[in-house]
Amino acid sequence: MFTSCPIGFVSSPYMDTGQVPKGLGAKHDADGVLKLLPEFEPGLTDIEGFSHLIVIWEFDRSEGFELTASPPSDNRSHGVFATRSPLRPNPIALTTVELLRREGAHLHVRGIDMLDGTPILDIKPYLSSIPPEKLRRGWLAEAEARQK
Ligand SMILES: C[S@@+](CC[C@H](N)C(=O)[O-])C[C@H]1O[C@@H](n2cnc3c(N)ncnc32)[C@H](O)[C@@H]1O
Repeated sequence: MFTSCPIGFVSSPYMDTGQVPKGLGAKHDADGVLKLLPEFEPGLTDIEGFSHLIVIWEFDRSEGFELTASPPSDNRSHGVFATRSPLRPNPIALTTVELLRREGAHLHVRGIDMLDGTPILDIKPYLSSIPPEKLRRGWLAEAEARQK
């Protein structure tokens, strides 16, 4: 086991959870800045070549967890590990963002869904190798079909 240690913090237009778009069809196109602590800046070398990044972050404003969750995108509940609920045994989140530009230790990105000041645990380049025809979207596809 390890103790997580933020490598930086998110600058986001969202100050509380009610402001983040939710539910079926919600668009995540908000711009934000991933502000790394200066000592981690060398770790960003060569990141500019990637169009998209995976940001791993902490639900630092969640308390406790529930093993079933009722997502805003469905009126049925599902196991927490079949959802992206913020109430998880380990409060870890990930978001794929588009990299707009880098300014030193700051990454300007599009597509954030985290609150202002959220701790960033890690950043990795997004490299999808799964062909779209192989992807199954489980209960989410069923919820979308029911609401058409
Ligand atoms: C459904 S979760 C998905 C997060 C991430 N994209 C994932 O898949 O792990 C997104 C919600 O988490 C909540 N949230 C955002 N930042 C948070 C934070 N720092 N602490 C707790 N909850 C947060 C907001 O309500 C937001 O709508």
